[in-house]
Amino acid sequence: MTENPIAKAAEAIKKGGIVVFPTETVYGLGANVFNIDAVKKIFKAKGRPTDNPLIVHIADRKDLKKVVEKVPAIAKRLIDKFWPGPLTLIFKKRLEIPKEVTAGLDTVAVRLPNHALARALIREAGVPIAAPSANISGKPSPTEAAHAKKDLVKKVDYILSAEKSKFGIESTILNVLTKPPTILRQGAVTREEIEKVIGHIEVSSLKSLKFKTIAPGMKYRHYAPEAKLILGLPEEINKLIEKYQTKKKKVGVLGARENYQFYKKANRVIILGSSRNLNTCAANLFKALRDFDRFNDVDIILGEIFSEKGIGAAIMERLRKAAQ
Ligand code: TXA
Ligand code: MG
Repeated sequence: MTENPIAKAAEAIKKGGIVVFPTETVYGLGANVFNIDAVKKIFKAKGRPTDNPLIVHIADRKDLKKVVEKVPAIAKRLIDKFWPGPLTLIFKKRLEIPKEVTAGLDTVAVRLPNHALARALIREAGVPIAAPSANISGKPSPTEAAHAKKDLVKKVDYILSAEKSKFGIESTILNVLTKPPTILRQGAVTREEIEKVIGHIEVSSLKSLKFKTIAPGMKYRHYAPEAKLILGLPEEINKLIEKYQTKKKKVGVLGARENYQFYKKANRVIILGSSRNLNTCAANLFKALRDFDRFNDVDIILGEIFSEKGIGAAIMERLRKAAQ
């Protein structure tokens, strides 16, 4: 038996096991994409609805042809610019990709993570790795190995630990099969960054969920802390704190440093960072939501509405889902 963590993790994948591994966005829970029994274990461990497809992770661009039928020209330009990195693209899938991975869709979501351990694991396992985020379904995605451990330790075959996730928010999902391409999930690569490369794109908003093709996962409640989350602007939150406290409720606030003056009276305040640095706020978001559960001392959480510029759009998409 080897002591090398990558070799151990790869061995578990080769044997049909499921493994927690780090990426630059959040921790993932992976299995050999071609092993249907292994893929089913992921859904079971997370309590994930089987109609919610997984993202396929590859280590090298040449491996894309193992999973997709065709790479449209527009996708090539995005790959040149953003891979390795936090952009997931939707392609027509190859027949060999099991329907369990794609939840019966004839498309497949693929990404090439920008994380040395993730790529070393995929290479050593010798197969693309199907992986959702390594959390119990509905909970905030894990940005530290400890979060994944808390949710899944008894249910997985190996946990490959590393540092906390750089972006702390999942990849952007872009469907390049529509004209114009559509963002199905906002994420670490911003709409503005994508539009610089390929021009105008659409964003499938939560409001349009019922009518449009969407990322199937987006219809589920997600990221939610145990206490109810309500969103508002700093001044509104300021008033709501008092309102709920007179009703004998303990109130938590999640917001930006600049607005602390409005939140002073809350029973607990978690600051995500400066509103001038939304990347930091994004990176701290899931941990903050988990911390409210861990402290377990407020009845209600009031969350600040952030600017939707750049990565702010991804922050707000997650806050809105968590508040659903
Ligand atoms: O950053 C990330 O993307 C992380 C790391 C681990 O790579 N993964 C991740 O996976 O966030 P997960 O399962 O939590 O989210 C996958 C999303 C779901 O909303 C799912 O519905 C969507 O991707 N998805 C997967 N395949 C799809 C497809 N063929 N068409 C549309 N949406 C798809
Ligand atoms: Mg997830």
